[in-house]
Amino acid sequence: MCGIFGEITSKQDAPSTVFSGLKDIEYRGYDSWGIAFPQNGSLKVIKKVGFLPKTFPLPNSSVSIGHTRWATHGGVTEINAHPHTDCKGKIALVHNGIVENFLELKVKLKNHHFKSETDSEVIAHLIEEEKNKGKSLTDSASYVFRKLAGMNAIVVTDGKEIVACKMGSPLVVGKLKDGFALASDPNALLPLTNHLIFMEDEQIVNLNSQIKMFDKKGLRQINPKFKDVPWVHVQSELKKYPHFMLKEIYEQPEVLNSIVKNSHEIEKVSQLIKKAYGTFLIACGSASYSCLAGVYLFSKFAKKHVNFSIGSEFNYIQDYITPESLLIAVSQSGESMDTLEPVVQAKAKKAKIVGLVNVLGSTLYRIADYPLLLQAGLEKAVASTKALTAMFAMMILLAFTVVGKRKEAEEIIKQSALEISSILKRKNQIKKLADRLKSIQHIYILGRGLSYPVALETALKIKELSYIHSEGFAGGELKHGVIAMIEKGTPVIVYVPNDETKSAMLSNAMEVKARGAFVIGIGPESNPVFDFFFKVADVGASSMIPHIVFAQLLAYFLTTKLGHNPDKPRNLAKSVVVR
Ligand code: G6P
Repeated sequence: MCGIFGEITSKQDAPSTVFSGLKDIEYRGYDSWGIAFPQNGSLKVIKKVGFLPKTFPLPNSSVSIGHTRWATHGGVTEINAHPHTDCKGKIALVHNGIVENFLELKVKLKNHHFKSETDSEVIAHLIEEEKNKGKSLTDSASYVFRKLAGMNAIVVTDGKEIVACKMGSPLVVGKLKDGFALASDPNALLPLTNHLIFMEDEQIVNLNSQIKMFDKKGLRQINPKFKDVPWVHVQSELKKYPHFMLKEIYEQPEVLNSIVKNSHEIEKVSQLIKKAYGTFLIACGSASYSCLAGVYLFSKFAKKHVNFSIGSEFNYIQDYITPESLLIAVSQSGESMDTLEPVVQAKAKKAKIVGLVNVLGSTLYRIADYPLLLQAGLEKAVASTKALTAMFAMMILLAFTVVGKRKEAEEIIKQSALEISSILKRKNQIKKLADRLKSIQHIYILGRGLSYPVALETALKIKELSYIHSEGFAGGELKHGVIAMIEKGTPVIVYVPNDETKSAMLSNAMEVKARGAFVIGIGPESNPVFDFFFKVADVGASSMIPHIVFAQLLAYFLTTKLGHNPDKPRNLAKSVVVR
């Protein structure tokens, strides 16, 4: 999603540093980009639709700010890309978030000339109004920032200094030998420095040759305290792979084995679950399916009821949270607004927070009482693969560890890693299936029990990447509506693991077959009802993991066969930092 990078330095390389900073955060998803810097006494703004090129010629300058935009207000156009300027082009501004009251604010700016359709440009003109009253850039920006509703981060420059304000949306400032840099993602600063300040909500920073920080009431000066973080910059190169998605699919056995190696780290969390009066699993997107799987796993193996809600719905069912509650928020990025909002609400009610998160230093990692790393490594493709199977593995470990069976969990997770390697060797079978399905309009996926979240994930991966309509259902729901959609040739994927769901799933397969469906069976044993069978060995409760890998590969091959880019699906962002 939108990314921010800025630098002010006594050296003259700020625009090119900003350009490489933007390259570092581009994997989060965006549709246009832009950079501003002073040149010959005025501000020069470069904006482009599409992705950042490998290199871009930029002049020397000591100040620069840049942005990668994921459109919310206004289409994907050069004009709507950031930075935005005021009427006279005296200031340039980049913005992450949504100004929820921008229309209300815009009507008061009758004499201003607006170029774009964005909510962000309104901020630049509001700051101009304040500057026209003789206020400093810092005073103007902080005054305006307090008027914005929503979760926002802004960075503004007049070509001499940079001012940044944060509320909800992340901003990190780094201290350099010869200046300061700031970014919406700490990883992007690590090539330059390890001395960081994670800005708190409602703080304001002024960067010049010095740094000045102010608290939320705007302008009570506070002491900027840089922390030395021991983190290293994580990078991921494609190497021999055509896409990051495929590379990340291949990395899964290694990720699972490393989770097993470090599994002792979850003992603490399992104690918290035992003590809690109510545990709630919260996430969004694919991550939410790992939480749904958690509900089944805890019931089946720990005989324990845990609650699950997708993050964006938690707001409406959170009234029963108490200080004894435990909220386990699960997120690859640690920045999804839909997952962070419940965390903030539960924290306000004094509930304990566990953050199961992949990105070190992310907001969730920092605000959780107990951060637990997924250890999946940098995930670059927009749609989650290896972080997701890491989440499923963590859920298995947690459910088993609560009843003292961590070793059993480790065993089945290791077996699932082996099974993934076997699937990868047989990927051509899945490629053939993709060939057969690529011109189809609808695909349905059925699973029961632990395979129900797998069915949902399969449908999501197929639709979000290949744009083929696909829907996942609990097998039991087939007769309550879905069956009306089945006609001759409709592909239906059925997950038939060797568990208590097997016979009911085979009955579902018969029912769709009787209506002409093309039945794709996934599981350890073939059956005459299947028109296509892909074998996935029985690895107990961990069978979900190789099943998901089958789905990832099917989605990948459908997508590439249809000529789409699986790493950058249309309209999607990797880290969704707006509501
Ligand atoms: C986006 C990604 C999904 C991911 C979801 C949740 O929609 O495309 O793959 O599952 O965000 O992200 P998180 O970082 O919170 O796991």
